[in-house]
Amino acid sequence: MRVALQVNVDHVATLRQARGVDYPDPVHAAVLCELAGADGITVHLREDRRHIVDRDVRVLRETVKSVLNLEMAATDEMKGIALEVKPDLVTLVPEKREERTTEGGLDVVGARARLQGMVAELGEAGIPVSMFIDPDAAQIDASVEVGARVIELHTGDYANASDPRAELEKLMAAAAHAAERHPTLRVAAGHGLTLLNVGDLVRLVPEIVELNIGHALVADAVFRGMEASVAAYRHAIDDGESRR
Ligand code: PXP
Repeated sequence: MRVALQVNVDHVATLRQARGVDYPDPVHAAVLCELAGADGITVHLREDRRHIVDRDVRVLRETVKSVLNLEMAATDEMKGIALEVKPDLVTLVPEKREERTTEGGLDVVGARARLQGMVAELGEAGIPVSMFIDPDAAQIDASVEVGARVIELHTGDYANASDPRAELEKLMAAAAHAAERHPTLRVAAGHGLTLLNVGDLVRLVPEIVELNIGHALVADAVFRGMEASVAAYRHAIDDGESRR
């Protein structure tokens, strides 16, 4: 099965917010990504609205023809927005105001009761939930316990490691655990993925069915254009699959 590529367009909005103007528009970027073959569009509506703003999420809900994945903190404010906008998937992520980007996975084990309530409420509205977690068996089991249908394994440590082997092994073990114990759970991955590291991840962790890629893909698009960048990532993912 082809590994799905969901493009995170947050950093198109970062460029816009740097000037406080109305361009470049992440909505336009999403259209180009879909035309280039992206399987979904991901946005992170942060509490401080540093890149994606509420208008983007609402307009994307109208325009995205593939899958809209809304990343958000597990707060009442975000839950309200998700229930109103109804994305195709909500990915719950940890969020700290002072961080530059999402650091570490969500502690589902430590927040079981609260997350269970939120997953249930979103589920009643027809919105499946993904948990962005570290590659850890206890976090995977807890995610399933609270009702998540998808887990997204945090690949940031893999991306940042000088010797990525140990981090790859953690991802391999976690994905194998998920597939063995929770066969209906969908395993996604993301954070810090680039043209250089995505192929090995896909090759060595075949349980992954979906990738969320943002910063490096948008950075690449500055030079070669959004459609060419999406195509290059698609090619790198396909190449990883063909080398399994
Ligand atoms: N997945 C999640 C849950 C994230 O929070 C992010 C960053 O917003 C990404 C994937 C994409 O990471 P990157 O921008 O490093 O590709």
